[in-house]
Amino acid sequence: MKRPRKFADICAHLGDDYDFFRGAVVPPIYQNTTFTRKNSDHGYSYTRVKNPTTEVLEKKLAALECAEAARAYSSGMAAITSLLFSILKKGDHVVTLGSVYQPVVHFLQNEMPKFGVETDFINDGTPEEFEAAARPETRLFYLESPSSNVFKIQDLKKIAEIASRRGILTAIDNTWATPYFQNPLKLGIDYVIHSATKYLGGHSDICAGAVAGSAEKINALFESGMYSAVPDPFASWLLIRSLRTLELRMIRHGENARRVAEFLSGHGRVKKVLWPGLKTHEGHETAVSQMSGFSGLMGLVLDTDYRNTSKFIKNLDIFEEGPSWGGFESLINSPGVTDNEEYLNFTTIPQGLLRISVGLEDVDSILEDLDQSLKKL
Ligand SMILES: Cc1ncc(COP(=O)(O)O)c(C=O)c1O
Repeated sequence: MKRPRKFADICAHLGDDYDFFRGAVVPPIYQNTTFTRKNSDHGYSYTRVKNPTTEVLEKKLAALECAEAARAYSSGMAAITSLLFSILKKGDHVVTLGSVYQPVVHFLQNEMPKFGVETDFINDGTPEEFEAAARPETRLFYLESPSSNVFKIQDLKKIAEIASRRGILTAIDNTWATPYFQNPLKLGIDYVIHSATKYLGGHSDICAGAVAGSAEKINALFESGMYSAVPDPFASWLLIRSLRTLELRMIRHGENARRVAEFLSGHGRVKKVLWPGLKTHEGHETAVSQMSGFSGLMGLVLDTDYRNTSKFIKNLDIFEEGPSWGGFESLINSPGVTDNEEYLNFTTIPQGLLRISVGLEDVDSILEDLDQSLKKL
């Protein structure tokens, strides 16, 4: 296939350069650091700078995000911190939500001030809040829609318009939606970030990250990429393998999640379900205007105390308890399940919050599992 254009075609075939890779249907793993150049000028010298396997991955990621270029990293956090270090300088100011992925909050709060960069954290992430928090020295609006744990939706187009009017850059963590459900660059955002450890990898066996954007912006990162935390070529190869089924997996995650969200929100022992695909979600209308579907991570608060909530987790069979999300397996995590008053006063995480990552299992098995455990409450 010469020019894959549709999402599934890009997933399946982009980067399959049969001439370059001697007819191999799967691009090989270039598991080497050094490229010799006495007899040919092929443009490769050192894997941290450029590696043919990682290059295939970067082309695929760029095409999926409707970007001109992408840069792969060894983790989502490596992608985020490299981007921040690359585009921010002493005296710059950042605006973001207090509910973005907590290590990012920590990094902006505790590490970036050492380099003279200040951050303001806003609550809901409305365009008005971003505009009100902006200063003459604001360099970046950092978004994550929906944001971690509380699932706040941000209006990407409106926030990008405010930013561009004021000469401010915009970046978004698009890990939750994946490029299958949301393409922020098309809405005017400058940089799209991924933790590929989640849905892009999808098999809970790869730690990787990416940043996508215009060729000019990503090439500027390539210069700073001299100092980058790049993925190991084997991780790049595994991720290329994973991306071949991204569309299929996201359709299934989305369908399973909808059934689970509807079941839970109609259940008497469930107080709250946080999933932007539900009409009752406060950001639903905005979400529908900028996303074509919804993935499988959702928040849930039971109508009971923390002891019973812990019992609910223990009584589940299909759902294992653990961190991370976006893999083939259904997982449950309990970021708000504690009776520690000090923690609850300090955190933005709602009391009793459970986080469910709906996997690829049969949806009836998933629903039966949740139902039997809720009945034991
Ligand atoms: C929304 C979000 N962004 C970024 C990250 C960081 O990704 P990684 O674990 O690949 O560094 C995570 C990890 O959980 C996440 O949930």
